[in-house]
Amino acid sequence: MQNLQEIQTRIETAIKSAADLAALDAVRVAALGKKGEVSLLMRTLGSMTPEQRQEFGPKLNALKTGLNTVVSARRQDLEDQQLQARLASETIDVSLPAQAVGRGSIHPVSQVFAEANAIFADMGFVVATGPDIETDFYNFTALNFPPKHPARDMHDTFFFAPDADGERKVLRTHTSPVQIRTLQAAVAQANADGTELAPIRIIAPGRTYRCDSDQTHTPMFHQVEGLVIDKTTHMGHLKGCLQNFVSAFFEREVKVRFRPHHFPFTEPSAEMDIGYERVGNEIRIGQGDQWMEILGCGMVHPEVLRLSGVDPDIYQGFAFGMGVDRLAMLKYGIPDLRDFFACEQRWLEHYGFSPLHQPNLATGLSS
Ligand code: PHE
Repeated sequence: MQNLQEIQTRIETAIKSAADLAALDAVRVAALGKKGEVSLLMRTLGSMTPEQRQEFGPKLNALKTGLNTVVSARRQDLEDQQLQARLASETIDVSLPAQAVGRGSIHPVSQVFAEANAIFADMGFVVATGPDIETDFYNFTALNFPPKHPARDMHDTFFFAPDADGERKVLRTHTSPVQIRTLQAAVAQANADGTELAPIRIIAPGRTYRCDSDQTHTPMFHQVEGLVIDKTTHMGHLKGCLQNFVSAFFEREVKVRFRPHHFPFTEPSAEMDIGYERVGNEIRIGQGDQWMEILGCGMVHPEVLRLSGVDPDIYQGFAFGMGVDRLAMLKYGIPDLRDFFACEQRWLEHYGFSPLHQPNLATGLSS
């Protein structure tokens, strides 16, 4: 029998110097595997005399158990080392700035709609809506447009192909059809209730469409319509209401001017200008000796009331319509209207508004 002590020392040294788990396993197999050195020695027990077996049996067993213990210890060491190395290389630097999470922003058009809603809600207006695809009747006829009015031309208006009844629907060219829908609904309500017409005070924000495209015109744009009907509302109310609106909207004192104008559905009609001045490249709204037009308005034409079933000898009121995109450009210094619809992320980040702030008059419209 070979010198067991020598074998033990040699294999133990090999185990302890195994550099990694793979090397350790190779040493283990060479010693304790099926055909390993120690296993082969165990096999020689069978050919020994009982006395020899009694002497070497326990010694070989002790050798085998001893080596197994050393292998386990070395494996534990190597695994610990591996873990330590991972911990050292995979540390997390908790002082690094957090990675920014993308947050959407509110488009300037939506912002201005929300601001206008807040201002008019404060004056007692409620929001009314109507369809983008309108009939010729609501977009033109009921609004007292004469048959040959230029707005009825293909050049200015998007018409749909005529339907089975020969009717051509249009993409509404303004939000004024909502005036008609509102008047009709109010008349129907009064008739159903058997009461007189209740006062009307609505705004109608929405999309509008015209065949137009340049730096300040896009085929789709946005308007806010307003309609006030009762028995006593007059032009002074119209002026006060719109004067209040622009000052609230631009969040400063804004001087206004009303110029006579023509719309088929109002009489008298006016356009409202606001004062501004140019300082360098910047347009400063409010004061100054320059004027710019921002909306159309007027007293609702008696014929419009009559066409909707409202008696113009009893009821009267005013209407207005303003371009929301234009208002957004002026208030927030946005030079090109076409960028509004380019869906450019960086533009939205620059000109957009926090989704966490709901415009209201108490805490501020835009901040
Ligand atoms: N509908 C008109 C336009 O789009 C604006 C307007 C609305 C004028 C209401 C008077 C009254 O130009």
